[in-house]
Amino acid sequence: MTQEKGHGDRKLETLSYLPIPVASLRADTVTNFDLYLPSHDGRTPVLYRDGVFPITTALLDRLRVGKVETLLVKSTDEENYRHYLESNLGSLVADENMPLEERSALLYDSARNLVRDVLRDPRAGNVLRRSEEVVSHMVRFLFADKQAFYHLIQVTSYDYYTYTHSVNVFVFNIALAARLGVREEDLHDFGQGALLHDIGKSKIDPNVLNNPGKLSPDQWRIIKMHPIFGDQLLLEQGCKSEIVIDIVRHHHEKLCGGGYPDNLSGDDISAWVRISTISDIFDALTTRRPYKAALDSYHSLRLMQEEMSEELDPDFFLAFVEMMGNIERPRHPGRK
Ligand SMILES: [Fe+2]
Ligand SMILES: [Fe+2]
Repeated sequence: MTQEKGHGDRKLETLSYLPIPVASLRADTVTNFDLYLPSHDGRTPVLYRDGVFPITTALLDRLRVGKVETLLVKSTDEENYRHYLESNLGSLVADENMPLEERSALLYDSARNLVRDVLRDPRAGNVLRRSEEVVSHMVRFLFADKQAFYHLIQVTSYDYYTYTHSVNVFVFNIALAARLGVREEDLHDFGQGALLHDIGKSKIDPNVLNNPGKLSPDQWRIIKMHPIFGDQLLLEQGCKSEIVIDIVRHHHEKLCGGGYPDNLSGDDISAWVRISTISDIFDALTTRRPYKAALDSYHSLRLMQEEMSEELDPDFFLAFVEMMGNIERPRHPGRK
């Protein structure tokens, strides 16, 4: 515990507390975690608000007047803070006083944490409800402001983890579908399918999944099972959406045939899946893994054009190239 450490141990202090933006606190909510004021002289942070007392408008005003933009929570409360953010996402996203970049980062982090929880425990009872809610906030955010997509792309992770990859695919999917003229209200199942598309990987041994070497035929056979595992998991959860199941089960199918698990081709592959496949491949190419460097957007799109054109829907791919043409995904060394 921090209190047991000697005063002045800045390094340990930093490890024990997590800075949070004051802007992420909502009036008339109860955090259930304590808030601390940072100390500028290396001393233990000072308790500012006990978590059982509601956050009031007066308290937020006082912080604003005092130009306090950051408070601290104990690292042990990190999970509680994330759940607090998730349950207040609607009001955070709609808060025009908060810069778009900050809202983008909060949304991205909430979606990423949600997918990470889902992958850890895909049978948790609330997987579908939580993902529906996050999806609806993100879709609304992306449609509310033309710059929102750009800002969300800026915060997409450059390092590959299944959970960050899932959020990135979601962002590309929604942006492309919107560009193709799909209406906001028709994108919720599509977004949920993107966010959960690799949920079946939760049933695969991480040592196989992250194997940097050449996979044995047996390991490859197991990895190719993840769309079927995902389909099963969602059915067990009571998922009723054919679109969600379609994306989860078919995102590795190829337009020319030869994909897995059902070896579909041509018109048997839905438009939802065709878009998801493009986003899925693009994100895999543009993110870094322990065993491969990331390609930049230009080289990724060129590789897709030269080596995968038979597999991908040509019209959707062209629209994707036009959409990504002017956007380079930045490197975010600190962000995972
Ligand atoms: Fe996949
Ligand atoms: Fe994927």
